[in-house]
Amino acid sequence: MMKIKKISAKETYPLRLEILRKNIPLPYEFSDDFDAETFHLGVFKDRKLIAVSSYMKANNPNFKGTQYQLRGMAALNEYQGFGAGKLMLQEAFLILTELKIDCLWCNARVIAVDFYEKFGLQTFGEKIELKFVGDHYVMFKYLE
Ligand SMILES: CC(C)(COP(=O)(O)OP(=O)(O)OC[C@H]1O[C@@H](n2cnc3c(N)ncnc32)[C@H](O)[C@@H]1OP(=O)(O)O)[C@@H](O)C(=O)NCCC(=O)NCCS
Repeated sequence: MMKIKKISAKETYPLRLEILRKNIPLPYEFSDDFDAETFHLGVFKDRKLIAVSSYMKANNPNFKGTQYQLRGMAALNEYQGFGAGKLMLQEAFLILTELKIDCLWCNARVIAVDFYEKFGLQTFGEKIELKFVGDHYVMFKYLE
């Protein structure tokens, strides 16, 4: 059984490092990690943390209203495709709706675009190249 809960910024670091920053000279600590409005979600399987994601208040001028940015979405390789990503996004939508946030956006790796589209995010604009981590699309979803 998988369980989802809020976790601390520090708990996200090992997975960020392993899945998103392996051999990549970019920080795995984000400047907004400890902001009061920031929250981090973790999925546990048999008490083992298998997936993490972080949500930070951040405005993108392309979108309207109150906004959060999704960052650091990662599931351990051997646990990808088991529904942890889905659990986290669905929980984030609930939390953000309760907070009356209008829009969730992120910089999505090209390989993750189809995943985000399954949950109603849309790409915005052209592909952008981010240094060291390759091609990305800005993606967004207005919350109901
Ligand atoms: C992308 C990622 C976070 C998805 O998490 P996950 O736990 O593996 O995804 P889930 O098992 O919840 O998948 C939910 C649905 O999305 C689909 N899906 C998952 N990853 C996908 C991908 N990369 N491309 C297309 N579809 C994908 C699943 O098949 C599933 O579909 P279904 O509900 O029809 O069965 C995870 O695979 C991962 O950590 N990848 C490497 C790091 C990464 O790229 N992170 C995103 C950075 S922007």
